Amino acid sequence: MTDTTKSIHGEWSSRFAFILAATGSAVGLGNIWKFPYITGENGGGAFVLVYLLCVLAIGIPIMIAEIMMGRRGRQSPINTMTTLAEEAQVDSRWHYLGWMGVAAGFLILSYYSVVAGWALSYVVKAFFGGFSGGDAEEIKSLFDGLVASPVQLVFWHSVFMLATMMIVRRGVSGGLEKAVRFLMPALFVILLLLVGYAMTTGFYQQGLDFMFEADFSEIDANAILTAMGHAFFTLSLGMGAIMVYGSYLPRHISIAKTAIYIAGADTIVALLAGIAIFPIVFANGLEPGAGPGLIFQTLPIAFGNMSGGWLFGFLFFVLLVFAALSSSISLIEPAVAWLVENKGMDRHSACIWSGLVTWLLGVAVAFSFNIWSDITLFDKSIFDLLDYLTANLMLPLGGLCIALFAGWMMKRQHTLQELEMPEQQYGVWKFLICYIAPAAVFLVFLHVVGII
Ligand code: PHE
Repeated sequence: MTDTTKSIHGEWSSRFAFILAATGSAVGLGNIWKFPYITGENGGGAFVLVYLLCVLAIGIPIMIAEIMMGRRGRQSPINTMTTLAEEAQVDSRWHYLGWMGVAAGFLILSYYSVVAGWALSYVVKAFFGGFSGGDAEEIKSLFDGLVASPVQLVFWHSVFMLATMMIVRRGVSGGLEKAVRFLMPALFVILLLLVGYAMTTGFYQQGLDFMFEADFSEIDANAILTAMGHAFFTLSLGMGAIMVYGSYLPRHISIAKTAIYIAGADTIVALLAGIAIFPIVFANGLEPGAGPGLIFQTLPIAFGNMSGGWLFGFLFFVLLVFAALSSSISLIEPAVAWLVENKGMDRHSACIWSGLVTWLLGVAVAFSFNIWSDITLFDKSIFDLLDYLTANLMLPLGGLCIALFAGWMMKRQHTLQELEMPEQQYGVWKFLICYIAPAAVFLVFLHVVGII
């Protein structure tokens, strides 16, 4: 592993390009769609606090570890794990971690794409003035109508998957690196505008109180698991997405600083989304715990009742779709990189195969909102089950293994060489990755199964 070793898939053009791509991966539906609705379902403030703690104590150290491992291994997460296990002279079965990540990527993308499809269909609705003057009732029935229609869901899911695979096909620093450069700031501006609208509702303070006043009687073991799982989900950790992006990172770039920027930007976007949404929820007598439809049942009310709302609504959903696209490509990249490395495929065929598998799974998810809604396992629909399995179990488990590998298996000289951190900061990271992060994940798991 010398300075000249590069990934066969290409490299980011600069540190800034990597930050953009990784922030693009992190910021997505997780921040704007999922964070508000799970915060609403889990009672607000205390949940937000646990989530923030998880980002700080578990998320950031694991993100540093993932980027570091990716850059050292320089291949798809599966092959990177094989290489790193060899280098560290430990059991080669560590590479199964890469496989779990690939599986998690497929499973997440299958429902991610269906939800991104909702956003796509709202782009069209907004453009044709579909929200204009709408009250809470009308906006809700708009959403109910959409999810009740298998044809519409499959159609928009297909459009989104096609767009994802077309971008992935172009490789690392193709179109997206450039697009994300201005789309991210634009999304930020439009969120600020929505926060401005929320301030005019008369329920701004109530929204803030809901999000930031911690009442610990509101949360149980499952809420803590959801908050921790979401810290992984929103930072794209535990499945190799950030690892594979790290493998395209040029040498001599400070990994720790970069990880802190990415986590910071991601957290700000999520908090802004919550601050914009909850005042609208309370102003319209809606339920914070309305579930996955929350943003689709609240934000259109704001757009429908502000001047120029059709334009802002249109822009918002366009930007949301782009944020989702810059995440979805990272969900499938580990699989595509592996197919290219191990199956001798070119990117084009690798995209077709992995895209097809995800698309099929996604069709099942789309049906789980309507014609297959009575198919349940452990009392959960296909959509709920996939979400729970991936975000609450697979990602934290993947993250736990990454922490154990980086902290306990890799040789100190290698991690030190890769991270190029001052001794003291390295010590802090090492402490977090060896003890705090694994222990936290482990304890939450034990708590959920009722052992503690
Ligand atoms: N972080 C993305 C989001 O918040 C989702 C994601 C999860 C992307 C895992 C890649 C890996 O929307």
